[in-house]
Amino acid sequence: MFKFFLVSFLGLLIAAHGVAENRVYDDIAMIEELESFDIEEGNDVEFSESPLWTSEHVSKILVNVDAFGAAGDGVADDTQAFLSAWDKACSTPKSVLLVPQGRSYLVNATRFKGPCADKLLIQIDGTIVAPDEPKNWDPKNPRNWLDFSKLKGVLFQGGGIIDGSGSKWWASSCKRNKSNPCRGAPTALTIDSSSSVWVKGLTIQNSQQMHFTISRSQSVRIIDVQVSAPEDSPNTDGIHITDSTNVLLQNCKIGTGDDCISIVSGSSNIKMKTIYCGPGHGISIGSLGKDNSSGIVTKVVLDSAFLRGTTNGLRIKTWQGGSGFVRAVRYQNVRMEDVANPILIDQFYCDSPNECKNQTSAVQISQIMYRNISGTTKSAKAMKFACSDSFPCNNIVVSNINLEKKDGTVETYCNSATGFGYGTVHPAADCLSSSDKECIINNTENEELAEAIPEDLVHTEL
Ligand SMILES: *[C@@H]1O[C@H](CO)[C@@H](O)[C@H](O)[C@H]1NC(C)=O
Ligand SMILES: *[C@@H]1O[C@H](CO)[C@@H](O)[C@H](O)[C@H]1NC(C)=O
Ligand SMILES: *[C@@H]1O[C@H](CO)[C@@H](O)[C@H](O)[C@H]1NC(C)=O
Ligand SMILES: *[C@@H]1O[C@H](CO)[C@@H](O)[C@H](O)[C@H]1NC(C)=O
Ligand SMILES: *[C@@H]1O[C@H](CO)[C@@H](O)[C@H](O)[C@H]1NC(C)=O
Ligand SMILES: *[C@@H]1O[C@H](CO)[C@@H](O)[C@H](O)[C@H]1NC(C)=O
Repeated sequence: MFKFFLVSFLGLLIAAHGVAENRVYDDIAMIEELESFDIEEGNDVEFSESPLWTSEHVSKILVNVDAFGAAGDGVADDTQAFLSAWDKACSTPKSVLLVPQGRSYLVNATRFKGPCADKLLIQIDGTIVAPDEPKNWDPKNPRNWLDFSKLKGVLFQGGGIIDGSGSKWWASSCKRNKSNPCRGAPTALTIDSSSSVWVKGLTIQNSQQMHFTISRSQSVRIIDVQVSAPEDSPNTDGIHITDSTNVLLQNCKIGTGDDCISIVSGSSNIKMKTIYCGPGHGISIGSLGKDNSSGIVTKVVLDSAFLRGTTNGLRIKTWQGGSGFVRAVRYQNVRMEDVANPILIDQFYCDSPNECKNQTSAVQISQIMYRNISGTTKSAKAMKFACSDSFPCNNIVVSNINLEKKDGTVETYCNSATGFGYGTVHPAADCLSSSDKECIINNTENEELAEAIPEDLVHTEL
């Protein structure tokens, strides 16, 4: 059905503009692919949906951190107890590493290394807190607090809390006070160089910097995870994905001082489903291309999200001078409330105290689809496609967009961006179908085209 309408629509395009037929059929194939590609959610039989260890894991071997001398009073140093418990649990098949409920464990920066024996379950029901003084932080682990690596087939779960005690780190950030030196702070929880890892139900809060990083990993599922930090805490990204494939984030509630989710280089097949974001800087791909680096992100799907009060909504950000590409991204069924830049491609991203010069090289952005995106915007430019002059964005597809500003009109901004819209698109995105470099919606050709295609001919339901 959809194809029929699209063919008629593009047929009209051919008739009206003599657009090359081949290109039209390429477009159809491209849109069909964008609309339908999916990310395997996997079905790891090893993990049942709700494995409450108490009832189901009678045959499991319980490794309780308390049995290794952890005090659990939030004051005494429990680092060594956690390490000893880890060594035991990791080397014992079918074990459950338990952090009991109702207690608080103070743990230093620690590396929990795999590989581990089969079917390790990490049950976190209590609270794990980080020491709060940056001055005493272990210099050997400047960028990590709890770092898990080389895991295979491990499940983290529980109603526990991982708390980075970040407030002194935030105060010493150069973003808070320009006279502070700019240096990185630890990430609260990291899963690195791992595969088949599930994380279910945890809360991660008040991280020193990023909350939860998934790096160099495959087949990771993050379900029912909550992340929270104050809106003004600097660089406290919620979930950060780097160099990873087949990652599913589902039903996560994230509110921090930076991106709710950020997906950076070397990542593909990333699916985000039912995401609540705010406060924060939105759901981002990037930044990519910093310091002339190459960045590649492909096949990303966001399906069902609610963003409230964020400074950006759906953002792709790249630095001038980079290389590589972002390709095949679909955002759908997103509701926004008071979002400052709901739909944004920014190829002039510059998060630096120094000015970033325009360069000829850039990370190329193409095949980006936005469909069924609605809500309210705080800025007039509800859709902004600010693309590099030397590497224009192409195949940007917008469909069923309805973004309103409470007081005033909304518009779409394009610089070097091409693509098209179908269905209802408000604000109109005619500037995408123009070949003008910078286009304000003042294009007689597009007005003619709009008249030539009755609204009801363009199929809106997909
Ligand atoms: C944890 O950090 C504190 C403060 O730097 C230090 O005194 C203590 O020895 C560390 N614990 C371990 C087990 O390394
Ligand atoms: C910024 O840091 C400097 C040096 O540490 C300090 O003197 C100043 O009071 C700080 N400013 C604010 C606004 O906190
Ligand atoms: C990036 O490349 C540009 C142009 O070649 C050069 O001027 C600039 O110094 C490079 N920047 C870095 C951080 O390497
Ligand atoms: C559009 O997205 C909203 C969420 O913002 C959802 O409730 C609605 O069902 C979606 N519509 C369609 C046709 O999928
Ligand atoms: C870079 O190029 C863009 C698009 O042409 C332009 O809007 C922007 O002002 C330029 N920035 C600088 C720093 O020259
Ligand atoms: C529309 O664009 C033409 C050039 O394409 C320009 O001359 C004209 O002033 C524009 N009109 C408005 C209202 O911006």
